Amino acid sequence: MSKPSPKVLIIGSDGSIGSHLRAYLESQGREVIGTTRRPGRVGDSCLYLDLAADVEAWPVPEGVAAAVICAGISSVQACAIDPNGTADVNVHATVTLAKLLASAGYPKIFFLSSGHVFDGERPLESADARLSPVTEYGRQKADAERRLASLGNTIAIVRLSNVLTPHNPLIRGWTESLKAGQAIKPFSDMTMAPVPVSFVSQALAAIIDQPTGRVWQISGAKDVSYSNAASLGARALGMPQKLVQPIKAAEAGFAETVRRYTSMDSSRLSNELGLKPPDVDRTVELAFTNPSALGSVR
Ligand SMILES: NC(=O)c1ccc[n+]([C@@H]2O[C@H](COP(=O)([O-])OP(=O)(O)OC[C@H]3O[C@@H](n4cnc5c(N)ncnc54)[C@H](OP(=O)(O)O)[C@@H]3O)[C@@H](O)[C@H]2O)c1
Repeated sequence: MSKPSPKVLIIGSDGSIGSHLRAYLESQGREVIGTTRRPGRVGDSCLYLDLAADVEAWPVPEGVAAAVICAGISSVQACAIDPNGTADVNVHATVTLAKLLASAGYPKIFFLSSGHVFDGERPLESADARLSPVTEYGRQKADAERRLASLGNTIAIVRLSNVLTPHNPLIRGWTESLKAGQAIKPFSDMTMAPVPVSFVSQALAAIIDQPTGRVWQISGAKDVSYSNAASLGARALGMPQKLVQPIKAAEAGFAETVRRYTSMDSSRLSNELGLKPPDVDRTVELAFTNPSALGSVR
């Protein structure tokens, strides 16, 4: 008889990454329990959890080998608008939950963090660089990382750059405009180092089988400006370059969230797990021409 696959708990299994990770793990024959804050989705393998409520009273499921904390308020703008309310979820409730899981005997807890913990002054930022956030969202992620460090070898941090899903609203909007022959105005001074959500799920599935107590980074191998990404997309769609009309982020009121570089060093992934992030230009082209491919579970 084959050994039963260890059970995985995904905190926030309705989100872009959590839902894809769940589908990926299930496609690999792993048993998964998720959490939702939507009452209609609650069931045997999906438990109710609202991080804005009384987390300490949450009935922690038993028999779980690894928990992945995907829930959180992931919008940079939402964090800037309501720093206290978003920190309650992204920092306080998240850390309380991780401690609750650890004290219930969970051997491994994985926290999804972000490249926003860095100021973006250097490309391919190293995993052990000093945390230097410049956005409220980044400060919250950095704060959560620091506090979670008290869990020692039970916790692993997984920092992500931009994760592209089939439903990315910005690129979907650009694609529709370009196909309609309408001009778009991408930022020339804001960059991304995107990875497809399918790769992120594949990497997370491998990471959760590794020992905890360290930091992983999942990032595209280079930075591309939003305007160059839009140009790549226009070319891939066969639309004229003149439709891409770059502007500075400040012209649209986004100066505070601009970081020059967003890429992080992912060499631990390739060296230890043999997982190389897909080519950035190809990821961008797919986002315009065949977005569903970004999410295909292989
Ligand atoms: N996507 C990226 O490019 C990216 C990059 C770097 C880091 N990350 C981090 O990765 C994690 C997952 O990102 P994502 O893109 O999947 O985000 P997402 O699509 O916005 O999903 C966030 C999830 O958190 C849940 N959530 C929000 N507030 C909650 C609360 N009070 N209680 C319980 N659940 C709550 C949401 O529930 P509902 O579905 O009910 O709203 C949703 O399921 C986040 O921590 C994010 O900061 C993402």
